[in-house]
Amino acid sequence: MNNFKQNSLLQQRASRVLPLGVNSNFRYWGKDITPYVRKGKGSHLWDVDGNEYIDYRMAFGPIILGHAYDEVDAKVIEEVQNGVLFAMTGELEVEVAEMIVEMCPAVEMVRMACSGTEATMHAIRVARAFTGREIILKFEGNYHGFHDYTLWSTYAPVESYGSRRSPIPVAASSGIPRVLGEKIITLPFNDFEGFERVMQSFGDQIAAVITEPCQGNCGAILPEPGFLELIRQKTTEYGALFILDEVKTGFRIAAGGAQEFYNLKPDLATYAKALGNGYPAAAFGGKKEIMEIIGHGVSQGGTYTNNKPGIAGAYATLKIMQREPVFATLNSRGGRLMTGLKEIFEDNSIPVAFNGYPAMFSFAIGLEQATCQRDWAASDREYYLRLAEAAINRGVMPDFDPREPWFLCYSHTEADIDRTLNVYSEIVKTVK
Ligand SMILES: Cc1ncc(COP(=O)(O)O)c(C=O)c1O
Repeated sequence: MNNFKQNSLLQQRASRVLPLGVNSNFRYWGKDITPYVRKGKGSHLWDVDGNEYIDYRMAFGPIILGHAYDEVDAKVIEEVQNGVLFAMTGELEVEVAEMIVEMCPAVEMVRMACSGTEATMHAIRVARAFTGREIILKFEGNYHGFHDYTLWSTYAPVESYGSRRSPIPVAASSGIPRVLGEKIITLPFNDFEGFERVMQSFGDQIAAVITEPCQGNCGAILPEPGFLELIRQKTTEYGALFILDEVKTGFRIAAGGAQEFYNLKPDLATYAKALGNGYPAAAFGGKKEIMEIIGHGVSQGGTYTNNKPGIAGAYATLKIMQREPVFATLNSRGGRLMTGLKEIFEDNSIPVAFNGYPAMFSFAIGLEQATCQRDWAASDREYYLRLAEAAINRGVMPDFDPREPWFLCYSHTEADIDRTLNVYSEIVKTVK
């Protein structure tokens, strides 16, 4: 068992001034089990008791190269010495925009933001403005940030979602205006027939269909072959926009994200996370004719959208991606980890459904397959948690929440993968 004394003391202190003792509900795991971090380097992090972990949370996905990655940090330090924020545009942000356009096949023009929440919020506004319509269609289990527009049917117990044929949008929080429920349609992911039916009935009122390419906030459930293509086809047919939320997949599963991976051209796409290797950079972009309405009766902006740490972090991160075998390395190490874990469960006759990509994957214990959140909810989450707890005690840290993928970074080594597989092969036998 790890020594956890300082973690618990800091949690007590933090709880006096921060709700739950944290700055995001997702960082809270419970009393006396919530870790507090001291530092990170590469693929490892240390908590305030000095316990060392191989990190597979990667700050919920942004850390694509590694913690405290020297080249990125050096660029940020160099740039901030010339000023952190201006009410003017600088050359570096133009270069970052050029790199995003170069790397992401469907992005012809882009605007920067500071978080994924902002990026999707702006993309939705632009879609509504462009189409003159208000309804947004999203899929159950997908998460597009904390704004009120799409924080529906994300984490609720699936029993509250109603029939598959006529799903009920469920607000994920008190405080979300009920009236916004009139502007959202929810559907199970991968429901081909339901999607076609809804588009037939409401397609001409829908401003945008927004989706993550894989359910990066629900067990990394993959799109079934043809599902993303069907969204592309039907949105075009009914004059709605297709927003691909690449906040988790962008600059992670390939240099050009899911657009490159699936050879897909959405109308708009959103980015954050891996774009800045942890610095606060985000972006949304897409077709020129759509993006060009910004500034012509359509508002978008923000004091910090060109913040220098974010812009310099993105600049250095993208340069490294353009120069080094980042994605090949992630694919090979992540692939070995995925396969190795799968074999461990199989050797122990435990059914498990793996989903996602080598750089970002999840597994649902007790299931043969999961194609939507309704299926996934039947997985053995208790056992997943007990395994995660045992792994964390042995210095391997996946997220405590089984919906959250395991994230790889360029700094994970073969030795990290070996150690992780050894730990899981031990605990899958001993933890019942
Ligand atoms: C797919 C997706 N979209 C949007 C967001 C919101 O991003 P942020 O936390 O940077 O606001 C997230 C965050 O996890 C996400 O996974």
